[in-house]
Amino acid sequence: TPASADSHENFLQCLYNYPENTTSISSVVYTQTNSSYTSVLDVSIQNLRFFNATSKPVVIVTPLVVSHIQATIICAQRHGLQIRTRSGGHDYEGLSYVAGVPFVVVDLIKIREIEVDVENSTAWVQAGATLGELYYTISQKSKTLGFPGGVCPTVGVGGHISGGGYGFMIRKYGLAADNVIDAKIVDVNGNLLDKETMGEDLFWAIRGGGGASFGIVVAWKIKLVPVPSTVTVFRVRRTLEENATGIIQKWQRGANKFNESLTIRIKMERVNSSKSGNLTVEAQFESLYLGRVDDLIPYMQKSFPELGLVREDCTEMSWIGSILFMAGFPNGQSTDVLLNRTQSDGLFFFKAKSDYVRDPIPDVGLEGLWPFLYEDEAKDGYIQFTPYGGRMYEISESETPFAHRSGNIFHIQYIVFWREKGDVAAQRRVNWIRRLYNYTEAYVSKSPRSAYLNYRDLDIGVNNDGYTSFSQASIWGFKYFGNNFNRLARVKTRVDPRNFFRNEQSIPPLISQG
Ligand code: FDA
Repeated sequence: TPASADSHENFLQCLYNYPENTTSISSVVYTQTNSSYTSVLDVSIQNLRFFNATSKPVVIVTPLVVSHIQATIICAQRHGLQIRTRSGGHDYEGLSYVAGVPFVVVDLIKIREIEVDVENSTAWVQAGATLGELYYTISQKSKTLGFPGGVCPTVGVGGHISGGGYGFMIRKYGLAADNVIDAKIVDVNGNLLDKETMGEDLFWAIRGGGGASFGIVVAWKIKLVPVPSTVTVFRVRRTLEENATGIIQKWQRGANKFNESLTIRIKMERVNSSKSGNLTVEAQFESLYLGRVDDLIPYMQKSFPELGLVREDCTEMSWIGSILFMAGFPNGQSTDVLLNRTQSDGLFFFKAKSDYVRDPIPDVGLEGLWPFLYEDEAKDGYIQFTPYGGRMYEISESETPFAHRSGNIFHIQYIVFWREKGDVAAQRRVNWIRRLYNYTEAYVSKSPRSAYLNYRDLDIGVNNDGYTSFSQASIWGFKYFGNNFNRLARVKTRVDPRNFFRNEQSIPPLISQG
């Protein structure tokens, strides 16, 4: 039912009258006429493509307590509004705050407490906290505990952990979602559930299947992982003239087999050659080693001599120092910057895609990639390879919804950024990345061509408006989840049979929707 102005008014009345709202909700409800509406909406938008979206929420609620979440879920259903839940707002396609139907944004920015239990190496982290806030809080309590989540500190744990989540400890400890031991979620009936009361299947689904299809995640209980008090990082650059292709070729054959304390990721982008001044491609080898440089150098000389790593390339630091280093902050930066919820480089328009590679890409395949990076559209774009192996291979494909485990050598992200406004500028970049993606088809996983949910890409398929059929959703569903897509649909059928929690890429229930 389309929501009318009347029903919006009724929705608000419903919120204000909700019986269990002991803490008043009215101070955290923003309608379009509220003078703070725009700033509350914009503050967590991370992709300029969706900054001035025409389809804005009818109301934004920034809950302070769980009963505010419960009230919004109940009242939105009664009054014909959909819900989009936002934690950090990093969704690549803006699904946490843009919708083509009348909707409410539940923005968890005020639900972001973090409690670290050093003795038991666990923490409760509420969904609206960012990774930076989490890492900062852990580091305040212990120098030898960490968490294997993503690299960008402004990412929200609500979306990130429910979609998988990885960073430079992926080979040693797997995904963020692999380290969740309990969770709290409010379901479609407004019930607050934990691991025990939500049931094994729902607890399985929200650790990689995306939270948005199942309810509103309030908090995660996570396992903190041991990290040495001193770790080693490096970032070394090799251009095509310096045999980047050959080094990448060697990397493809070793990076998933190296010692699991070592993760070497590659970022390929175009630069002007310092020698000739001509355009060339540079591969940046960025790495975290959970150990000392004295051990790393001989290991690299034996296992990956082609890179030519020397001691001067490396820096020893604390684990939290490595978080700042990987996020691109200058040496000596205070850890306080991790508490900043806005990206340090400012905002860009961007579009990204992802792939998985099961057989090394031959030289001819790599050489065909470089011309894409020479194109003007790629000026602010890059291709990134992240190695798997280690812990990722020990976890079975069905243990969580995240199916990309053993057999995948590495993961690719393609991303293009731009700052010029307008459709023409956007279309040029989007066309570029689509052409690049067409090109790589021959070299990546097939049937299905896999993708990473947290690098959301609506090009790989979307649900029909209104009625969402399993077969339509299968087009994108098997790419993100492999055969786990079937189980996700069964869980959805149990917990949200009428498909209230839905979006362009939400899991459909298996029965007809009312
Ligand atoms: P956002 O709030 O936009 O939510 C994303 C999705 O999850 C939406 O569908 C939303 O409705 C849903 N959701 C959010 N909170 C929820 C909740 N509490 N309950 C239920 N559903 C909820 N990934 C990675 O693995 N490693 C990395 O290093 C990075 N780095 C990175 C950098 C930058 C700059 C960006 C923009 C993104 C990344 N990512 C990443 C991708 C990131 O993991 C992904 O976008 C996450 O879904 C973001 O979670 P947020 O809560 O910030 O997003």
